[in-house]
Amino acid sequence: MAPQINPSILSADFSRLADEAKAVEGADWLHVDVMDNHFVPNLTLGVPVVESLGKATETPLDCHLMIEDPDRWAPQYIEAGAGSVTFHVEAAAAPVRLAREIRAKGARASMALKPATPIEPYEDLLPELDMLLVMTVEPGFGGQAFLDIMLPKIRRTRQLIDKHGLQMWLQVDGGVSAETIERCAEAGADVFVAGSAVYGADDPAKAVRELRHLAEK
Ligand code: DX5
Ligand code: ZN
Repeated sequence: MAPQINPSILSADFSRLADEAKAVEGADWLHVDVMDNHFVPNLTLGVPVVESLGKATETPLDCHLMIEDPDRWAPQYIEAGAGSVTFHVEAAAAPVRLAREIRAKGARASMALKPATPIEPYEDLLPELDMLLVMTVEPGFGGQAFLDIMLPKIRRTRQLIDKHGLQMWLQVDGGVSAETIERCAEAGADVFVAGSAVYGADDPAKAVRELRHLAEK
C-alpha cells in the first residue's frame, strides 16, 4: 500500500481545531488523540469534540483512544464520526469482541501496543484487525523522541502480517519526522502519525507531502 500520513492534532492549536484540520487537507487521515488522564497522564478531548471535528473537515478521523475501558467508549466514537478506532490492548477487557464490534459498526478496527507490550501474544488476533499500531514513544504526549528500540518490533509485526497474508495496515506513532520516517518505512510500517513534525512546520500541508515522499523512497 502507498504510505499514508496522518497528522496528529495533539500538536495543533486546540482553540482553532477546524482551521488546523483544514491546514492539512490532503493528508490521508486526521489522527485524533483521546486521553483520559487515567490510561495516560494527560487529558485531551472526547466524543463531542470528535463529532464537531468530523463536521469541520473532509479528512476521515483516525481516533487513537488512550483511555481506560475502550470496550465501553469505542462505539460512541464511531457514532461521533470516526472512520478508524484504535484501542490499546493493555486497556481492553475483550479485544476480539471489541474489534468485531468496531467493524460491525462500520469503522476500521485497530489495536495499539505500548512500547513494552510485545506483538507475539496477539498473532492470532491479527485477522480481526484492520490496523496494528506500534507506539514508538510512551503514549501521553507529543514531541517526544522516537524510540529506535521499537524498530525490531515493527519488523516482526510486518513479518507476522505477511506470514498470514493479511492486508491490514501497520501504523507507527510517536517521534515520526523527516529524520525517522525512512527507518519506520524500511522496517515495514505503512501508516505514519506525525504531530510536531507537521504542526511544528511553517507549512503543515507541505510537511505532509515531504513526509509522504520520504516514506515512498
Ligand atoms: C502520543 C500520541 C501521538 C502524538 C505524536 O501519545 O499518541 O499521536 O500526537 O506526536 P509527535 O509526532 O510529536 O511525537
Ligand atoms: Zn496517537
